[in-house]
Amino acid sequence: MQVHKYDVVIVGAGGAGMRAAIESGQRARTAVLTKLYPTRSHTGAAQGGMCAALANVEEDNWEWHTFDTVKGGDYLVDQDAAEVMAKEAIDAVLDLEKMGLPFNRTPEGKIDQRRFGGHTRDHGKAAVRRACYAADRTGHMILQTLYQNCVKHNVEFYNEYYVLDLITVEEDATREDGTPYKQKRVAGVVSYDLASGELHIFQAKSVVFASGGLGKIFKTTSNAHTLTGDGMAIAYRAGIPLEDMEFVQFHPTGLAGLGVLLSEAARGEGGILRNSEGERFMERYAPTIKDLAPRDIVARSMAQEVREGRGCGPNKDYVLLDLTHLEPEHIDAKLPDITEFARTYLAVEPHTEPVPVFPTCHYAMGGIPTNIKAEVLQDNDTVVPGLYAAGEVACVSVHGSNRLGTNSLLDINVFGKRAGIYAAEYATGAEFVEIPESPETFVTEQLGMLREASGSERVGTIRAELQDTMDLNMQVFRSEETIKEALDKIAELKERYKQITVQDKGRRFNLDLLEAVELGFLLDMAEVMTVAALHRKESRGGHYREDFPERDDENFMLHSMLYKDPDAETEGVTGIRFDTKPVIFTRYEPMERKY
Ligand code: FUM
Repeated sequence: MQVHKYDVVIVGAGGAGMRAAIESGQRARTAVLTKLYPTRSHTGAAQGGMCAALANVEEDNWEWHTFDTVKGGDYLVDQDAAEVMAKEAIDAVLDLEKMGLPFNRTPEGKIDQRRFGGHTRDHGKAAVRRACYAADRTGHMILQTLYQNCVKHNVEFYNEYYVLDLITVEEDATREDGTPYKQKRVAGVVSYDLASGELHIFQAKSVVFASGGLGKIFKTTSNAHTLTGDGMAIAYRAGIPLEDMEFVQFHPTGLAGLGVLLSEAARGEGGILRNSEGERFMERYAPTIKDLAPRDIVARSMAQEVREGRGCGPNKDYVLLDLTHLEPEHIDAKLPDITEFARTYLAVEPHTEPVPVFPTCHYAMGGIPTNIKAEVLQDNDTVVPGLYAAGEVACVSVHGSNRLGTNSLLDINVFGKRAGIYAAEYATGAEFVEIPESPETFVTEQLGMLREASGSERVGTIRAELQDTMDLNMQVFRSEETIKEALDKIAELKERYKQITVQDKGRRFNLDLLEAVELGFLLDMAEVMTVAALHRKESRGGHYREDFPERDDENFMLHSMLYKDPDAETEGVTGIRFDTKPVIFTRYEPMERKY
């Protein structure tokens, strides 16, 4: 067993992980452990932009940005965090510019800005140009820029190292009100080296989780194969709660039937959604900002059009994204990648034909709860010293129940940077925590059992059935009936998971084995998500209950907190304890959400 020692270990090399590493690497000895080669991380798939109220092309300010974020999140946003994000957005963009990111420019040479859903001037009066962008490759450019700067700052990368467990110890501590409790403290992580099949212990004073989301729970998704909820699942198994897991974002414009992302920038640049009658239907649902309404509203409106028989194609199961009225040169300059996706995957020429689109699972608003210093919460009142999280794996909660487009590239930069700074500062003043004896035992046993397993069930089959049931029952419309159907299926699949077989019994590059591990994460996270959705008997943001179609602030203006607890039961599911956490308000009272 190899044991490595670092001040700070960062789990994940997407935007949040590498932004954290740049800060941490300049202050403390830092390692990044990543399942993928860093520049293949999923941040690279983010397309249309990163918002900041630079006011380069029209009047704007960070307060309007904060308001839009809060309203976009249907008021479940923690407003202190949204203020931090909107204020620090400006420096976050300028940091990237100084690091060398090739943003699109205005004729005068300023960073250019485009419109994006839910971003408005003066509290909803009209769409505003707030998204800074590099064509439709903004995430790709961010990833390359951050990686180059990590190399410059001597950050050490362990590529294709899968973190499979978090090592914590428990200490006696006292809450502010004098009550005693068991405080967790971070000691390190256990990781699996894909090339050799060996386990490595990383002892660390601080650990930062930046491992991304869980979009592969769904079949129709913009997410890469690697987005299997690992970080959330590992934290949850280690006794850390998960917050607001019922809120999943469906991006309106996935390529129909495939889910491949077509950036909202297409609508920011003037694209229009149309139904089978050629109608610009968003005029009915969001008369002021129409196609640039927040994603939850646009995605639901599209699904509603299909439900009411105004879908397109032989099965009337998608709507159309029309770019044909835009100048071909404009499309080619501003949207080169996504137009190529339409040509490649659907054989549609966007210059002359509208593109078939339908909502695709895109983003988890929930995750590991943190405060604005990116410190992970053990419960509502206390943090886990040395443990940090940032990006999609975390819930700080700047997105509430629905994230605005371009706020995620922003989130990873603002809170990634904060995580890196605070993790390094903590590590500088702390001692290493002694690693308990054989911390790898759980992972060794788990991998051993999976490697030896020779049951009759296939990993791919269980995963496909999970994704089918989640697409069918937990998409943009949900009800008690559909949620329970998903829960029953998840329970069945969890039983069948005990009977899987892993065909590759070898040690080197055993992806078969790791897919089995990832399936376990997916099943756990699907269960948590579904239990939270059943519990929230209201409609808010991305969570729309047909049986409870109204937002219910009186009973549900609260964050959901789900704990793994063998002695508890929630919504008929044993092993999950449910609690709530108050939403933080600073200046915006909840209002009716009209666009
Ligand atoms: O539509 C997009 O370009 C996606 C951006 C985002 O999710 O923030």
